[in-house]
Amino acid sequence: MSTAAGSTNRSQNAAGVQAPPRLDLRAATGGGLFEYAPAPESVRPAIADRYGLFINGRFTDPTSSKRFTTINPATEATLSEVAEANEADVDAAVRAARDALPAWAGLPGKERGKFLYRIARRLQERARELAVLETMDGGKPIKESRDVDIPLAAAHFFHHAGWADKLQYAFPGREPRPVGVCGQIIPWNFPLLMAAWKIAPALACGNTVVLKPAETTPLTALRLAEICDEIGLPPGVVNIVTGAGATGAAIVNHPGIDKIAFTGSTEVGKIIAKAVAPTHKRLTLELGGKSANIIFEDASIDQAVEGIIEGIYFNQGHVCCAGSRLFVQESVLDRVIGKLKDRMSTLRVGDPLDKNTDVGAINSKAQLATIGKYLEIGSKEGAERHDCGTADLPGKGYFCRPCFFTGVQPSHTIAREEIFGPVLAVMSFRTPEEAISRANNTPYGLAAGVWTDKGSKIFDTARRLDAGVVWLNTYNKFDPTSPFGGFKESGFGREGGRHGLLAYLA
Ligand code: NAI
Ligand code: MG
Repeated sequence: MSTAAGSTNRSQNAAGVQAPPRLDLRAATGGGLFEYAPAPESVRPAIADRYGLFINGRFTDPTSSKRFTTINPATEATLSEVAEANEADVDAAVRAARDALPAWAGLPGKERGKFLYRIARRLQERARELAVLETMDGGKPIKESRDVDIPLAAAHFFHHAGWADKLQYAFPGREPRPVGVCGQIIPWNFPLLMAAWKIAPALACGNTVVLKPAETTPLTALRLAEICDEIGLPPGVVNIVTGAGATGAAIVNHPGIDKIAFTGSTEVGKIIAKAVAPTHKRLTLELGGKSANIIFEDASIDQAVEGIIEGIYFNQGHVCCAGSRLFVQESVLDRVIGKLKDRMSTLRVGDPLDKNTDVGAINSKAQLATIGKYLEIGSKEGAERHDCGTADLPGKGYFCRPCFFTGVQPSHTIAREEIFGPVLAVMSFRTPEEAISRANNTPYGLAAGVWTDKGSKIFDTARRLDAGVVWLNTYNKFDPTSPFGGFKESGFGREGGRHGLLAYLA
């Protein structure tokens, strides 16, 4: 490989030594180095023309007969018609969950655990079908649904299956009792995984549930309903009702619900908090974020850039803990920006079902419009946008070229508000103090990343960041044994780990 076509963009490192010229990979190879032959996923799971509501162990038609379509955001093709549950349907689901509660809560933990193990194994057995369906319904790249979403969903059931008969050891001195009927409302960014995060701990602790998936991504939750039926889960323990905001509100406001668990926008989280405040219901909220990644000058820059890419372009940036603000120590800013540009030029944007695709489709037309609005505001307020330079975007479907902004001020809208797309705001800092105070200068507090070679700096910085999760020299790593949740307007309560069980025990 020749370096002759490398750009002349030079930068100085901390010691004032001039760095070698940066290689422009695309120019050097005529743009061809990272072109892969298409590798489309060949499996196509069966999708019914229409789906009912899963209530009391059976698929039933909605009382209103109303349905809505779910589409594939990469092609705009309709995938299926899904039932829209109204208050009467939600009431039927809550009653089924209430009726099932005494027997389920009364089962020895070991027996409840067996059901969870069965669900976990069935998720593994049907993993490929579920991964393709997740990608078709939501737009995320198949390599993510295959390697992240579905395996982690199974892992959550395995993990909580193990807890089911050990709850008395989790919290010594306490007699673990279930909360009761749990209403669970989830978003579209990790559809099956969020269902697993909600259902697995609830069931392990002896609760029964009514879960509502997001309106743009209901199909894998409906598959999970099928799996509950296949493995012989007692009817009513898991009920899945589909619909949009009104269906969610019917769950929140139903007097027969003992606990609400919600993941979604801060705006809806606040509405739910108000609705639940005067009632007996317990509440956990996992809301938005504007998480900061901090790169210190002593960090391994290549490793950091890889993590930054993972942090903002993973799942098209549809991640509540996306590392959407990047703070770079001034002495390495040019190097980081140069490497970011190089690495971004290799990202493949396009068909989510292609196994080589890095960045898939934006989940919905509405979300694409939201991201577009922020891109416009970013430029208008004076920041400079750098687009990812891969080939043309597909003609159909909702796609957005990943990009980052430089010249961003803390007061800029793109530095303050959650965009939920593949858009990174790059800023610089001089001292660790400045990095920490600027990272904390946000109403959110979900996650953060710290990149440095120094162990003491890692622990000092992590301790002072107001974030539920702080990743050190890595980013966006999830594990069922590790609690996840926010500070401030990112919500309260934890999911996963031993802490996550608390939300489902009285
Ligand atoms: P949303 O908060 O409206 O939707 C999340 C879930 O809440 C869906 O299942 C929806 O049907 C349900 N819902 C909507 N209104 C409700 C209500 N009044 N009562 C009960 N449930 C209700 O989020 P949306 O509109 O899809 O996305 C808007 C923005 O929210 C995104 O741009 C992003 O910034 C943020 N968001 C954050 C997520 C996270 O993981 N923290 C997930 C999804 C969105
Ligand atoms: Mg869809």
